[in-house]
Amino acid sequence: MAASALNSVQTNALQQGINLDALPAHIAIIMDGNGRFAQGNGFQRLWGHRQGYKTLKNVLLTAAQLGIKYLTVYAFSAENWRRPEDEVGGLMALIEEAARHELRGLKENNVRAQAIGRLHEVPLGLQEALQEMKEDTQNNTGIVFTLAINYGGRAEILDAIKTIIKDNPAGEITEESINAALYDPTLPEPDLLIRTAGELRWSNFLIWQAAYSELFVTETTWPEFKEKELLEAVAHYQKRIRKFGGLADLQ
Ligand code: FPP
Repeated sequence: MAASALNSVQTNALQQGINLDALPAHIAIIMDGNGRFAQGNGFQRLWGHRQGYKTLKNVLLTAAQLGIKYLTVYAFSAENWRRPEDEVGGLMALIEEAARHELRGLKENNVRAQAIGRLHEVPLGLQEALQEMKEDTQNNTGIVFTLAINYGGRAEILDAIKTIIKDNPAGEITEESINAALYDPTLPEPDLLIRTAGELRWSNFLIWQAAYSELFVTETTWPEFKEKELLEAVAHYQKRIRKFGGLADLQ
């Protein structure tokens, strides 16, 4: 790649020893620690989610500039309904606001944006905003940005199996048929799964698709996660040898 064609994120990546020809195609992120960041700064949890929204914008644009093809983030888990009503309502409103207010920016940046999860269970206004976001960006050719909302990995597998049985009651259930019935079968499996704020848990995120993903956990909370941390995660990823259950090439 000619040095002159590089943007600032790619230049920084090269300086950190990242190989731009071996980037993870799909990065998935468990954005954790908004509440801790807020409480640590003496604010309410929703303030932390608002900071998390700013981080998400920044990370999406950074990932796109770096050359990542797919970014999938855990915005609201199927388990998050157990949080206090005002936090749940605040998160739903924030995600709807993001989908509506960022639409122009998503289009300008050639982002194809969509959501996965049991979307029929979220408030109607949010459903409409997500539908509009998807339709208005569907012909974009840049990074594919997927928000997991009211998402659970077990629920996705269960929904896939139900779809298969409904469509073809006598059909065989195979890994291929489950892959084909996932919320978005065109998404490749994540190469790299990042979790912020230090917990060593998978939390029911993309549990089918991330079976062989490389994991990167950072103590940094989500609102504090920046380009530097994203590049650090990619650099770590490139140091791993992916074996998919086989043996590494002995050279
Ligand atoms: C985890 O922090 C984060 C969430 C439950 C939701 C993620 C939401 C955002 C980043 C807000 C904006 C999203 C969009 C799509 C606009 P936590 O509350 O679990 O933090 P804690 O573990 O410190 O309590």
